[in-house]
Amino acid sequence: MEKLLVYNIGTLQTPVGSCKHGGGAQGENSKIKNAALYAENGIIKAITGDGRLPQGADGADVVKIDAQGALVTPGLVDAHTHLVFGGWRQGEIPLKLRGATYLDILRAGGGILDTVRHTREESREQLLEKSRGFLDEMLSLGVTTAEIKSGYGLDKENELKQLSITRQLQAEHPMDLVSTFLGAHAIPDEYKGRADEYIDMLISQVLPQVAEEKLAEFCDVFCEDSVFDVEQSRRILLAAQKLGLRSKIHADEIEEIGGAQLAGEVQAVSAEHLIATGEKGMEAMAKGGVIAALLPQTSFYLGKTFAPARRMIELGIPVALASDFNPGSCPSLNLQLSISLGYLRYRMLPEEVLTAVTINAAAAIGREHLVGTLEEGKQADLVIWNAPDMETLCYRFGSNLARTVIKKGVVAAGK
Ligand code: NIG
Ligand code: FE
Repeated sequence: MEKLLVYNIGTLQTPVGSCKHGGGAQGENSKIKNAALYAENGIIKAITGDGRLPQGADGADVVKIDAQGALVTPGLVDAHTHLVFGGWRQGEIPLKLRGATYLDILRAGGGILDTVRHTREESREQLLEKSRGFLDEMLSLGVTTAEIKSGYGLDKENELKQLSITRQLQAEHPMDLVSTFLGAHAIPDEYKGRADEYIDMLISQVLPQVAEEKLAEFCDVFCEDSVFDVEQSRRILLAAQKLGLRSKIHADEIEEIGGAQLAGEVQAVSAEHLIATGEKGMEAMAKGGVIAALLPQTSFYLGKTFAPARRMIELGIPVALASDFNPGSCPSLNLQLSISLGYLRYRMLPEEVLTAVTINAAAAIGREHLVGTLEEGKQADLVIWNAPDMETLCYRFGSNLARTVIKKGVVAAGK
C-alpha cells in the first residue's frame, strides 16, 4: 500500500464540496493552518491542523514530505485545451502585426485550417511524442487533470486519430485526461461554403462512432461568426446529447452571435471564452446552470478585452479559468498565467481564483467527485507551492511556482 504524509504545511487552502461554486460561494475556501495531509493508495484519508499529525501517519512505510511552511492547494485542473496538434503557427504573428485579425486569417484558409493540414500529415507517433512532452510540462506547472479537445482532424479518419491519441495518453500518462469531440471546430476546405453538409456528415458518420467507442465524454462547437452559427451549433450539440455526450460551447470568443444563450438553452455543462458576452447571454447561463470557462491568456494573446468575470460572479455563474492551449490563439500551456490574469484583469479574489482552477474546472469536465478539492475520500492530487499564500501565487508572474506536484499520492514532478 502506498502511504504519503505531507506535513508542516503553512496553509492548506481548498474549496470544499464536490460541486461547482457560483456567486459568494466562489470565494469561499477552507484555510487550515499548520496542516498535514495523509493519503493511502492515492486517496486522502485525513487532514489535520494546528501541528497535529493524522493517526497512522508515523509508520516507517509512509513517504513523508516536509512542506516547510508553504502553501498547499489541490492540483490544478485545466478544463480547456487543444493539446494534440501538428505544427505551430508562428508565421501568423507578423500577419497580425500588419493588421490581419484572427478571423481574417481563418477565412483565408490559414489559422485552424493550417493546423489541420499539419495534424493530418503527422504520424500518430509524432503527435503522441509531442503531446507527451506538453503533458509533462503541464504536470511540472501544477496541473494534475486536463481536458483535451479534438478539432484539428475535421474528417472522420483524422478526428478519430486525434481522439484515439488522447485515449492512449489517458492510459499511459499520470495526469487524468478528459476527452472532448470538437469536430465542429472549423469548416474544412473540402466543405467550403457547405457548413450544413459538414455538420450533417459529423452527425451521421463521425459522432456515432465517437459515442460507440466512447472516445469522448463531451461535444463542443466553435459557435462564431464565419464558423458555425447558432442553428448549426444547436444541431450538433443536441445530436451528441442523444448519444450521451454532454455539451460545451466555444461561445462569444470574438463576436456575440448567441452562443451563451444557446449554452443556457441546451444546458451545456460549460460555455467557454465569453469575451464578447452581454447581459442576455449571462442571464441564460445563470438560468441554465452553465459554468463559464474563461480563458484570459487568449484575450491577452488576441489583444481582446477580458470577459466580464465579475459580473458573472455577481449573477451567480460559477467561473472556471483554463489555459486554452493551442497553436493559434494561445500557445501557452501555463495555467499559472491564467491565475495571475484572472486576479489582475478579471479582478477575481485569490480565493475565487483558486475555486476557478480547481473545483469549478473539475465540474466543467465532470470530475468534481474525484478531484478539485482536498477532502477525505478525494484523490490525493496536490501542489506544494513556492509561495506562502494564494495572494503571492496570484501576484507572482512568469515563474513556475510549483515546487512539488503530487498525483494520486505520488510525487509526479518537482522535488
Ligand atoms: O479556443 N476558437 C477556436 N479554437 C481555439 C483556437 C484554435 C486555433 O486557433 O487553432 C480557441 O481559441
Ligand atoms: Fe479553445
